[in-house]
Amino acid sequence: MVDLRERLAYPLPIAVIGHLMGVPEDQRDDFRQLVDNVFDSTLTPEQAKANAARLFETTDQLIAAKRGDPGDDMTSLLIAARDEESDGTGFTDVELRDTMILMINAGYETTVNVIDQAVLAMLTSPDQLHLVRAGQATWEDVVEETLRAEPAIKYLPLRFAVTDIRLPDGQVIAAGDPILAAYGAANRHPDWHGPDADAFDVTRRVKDHLAFGYGVHFCLGAPLARLEVAEALRQLFERFPAMSLAAPADALRPVPTLISNGHQELPVRLRVVE
Ligand code: HEM
Repeated sequence: MVDLRERLAYPLPIAVIGHLMGVPEDQRDDFRQLVDNVFDSTLTPEQAKANAARLFETTDQLIAAKRGDPGDDMTSLLIAARDEESDGTGFTDVELRDTMILMINAGYETTVNVIDQAVLAMLTSPDQLHLVRAGQATWEDVVEETLRAEPAIKYLPLRFAVTDIRLPDGQVIAAGDPILAAYGAANRHPDWHGPDADAFDVTRRVKDHLAFGYGVHFCLGAPLARLEVAEALRQLFERFPAMSLAAPADALRPVPTLISNGHQELPVRLRVVE
């Protein structure tokens, strides 16, 4: 029995984004703890503040190291872009650090939950897995349906209306009001996906969802995330065709956060036990 979240869902996205951003291997776990804490909405304000300070410090250290010894990675490219634009038209040191944190946060946490939720959906809906194995649906369909039915980011806080927004039912969100974007609710709205919106159905014709956000801030990493998860599922189910869940699905504990939509552990048996 293995915890698939610990053994696959975390290491894969962390290896990919760590490689892209040039995070040295021995620092990737430090970032993981810091990023996990960013998404943990049970921290006290003091703990969250201390975590943010540590995240700033660790990112600043990475920037300083890469500035002294650039590599073939995005951190070095961002630093070069920052340093070349000394006439004020480029971005500031704070923007450089914040961009780094955004990329690392986004790449670390979200994809983990999609792998977790997609594997769980396949192991708890053998009919859906059968459709993929029979060639009637693709792993890409599984990824999209997972993003729709179980979006990796369930709620996104810290949005504020910049103008008054009138909703179709006449309610007004006033300029300045805080908004909690509930992607999970939107993706399962019957007006959008019909009366069976709650059902996990890889053959669903309309697979649209808001899991990657909407508009100018639409997720930059969407193609990478889609590729990573589809490939992980393809390889995993090919290599371990008899894999099964090693705990009742309703006993899986959700991660302690309002934001992310995953489980603390995903125990599976990779092979049939004789
Ligand atoms: C399945 C995995 C992922 C999900 C569900 C996801 C979700 C999202 C969402 C909901 C937003 C919009 C936030 C907003 O409205 O402000 C966003 C933005 C963003 N994501 Fe992702 N993301 C994923 C993977 C990634 C990866 C792997 C990367 C990096 C390689 C990434 C980089 C970004 C960046 C840079 C933005 C900000 C774009 C902007 O503000 O213009 N994401 N993501």
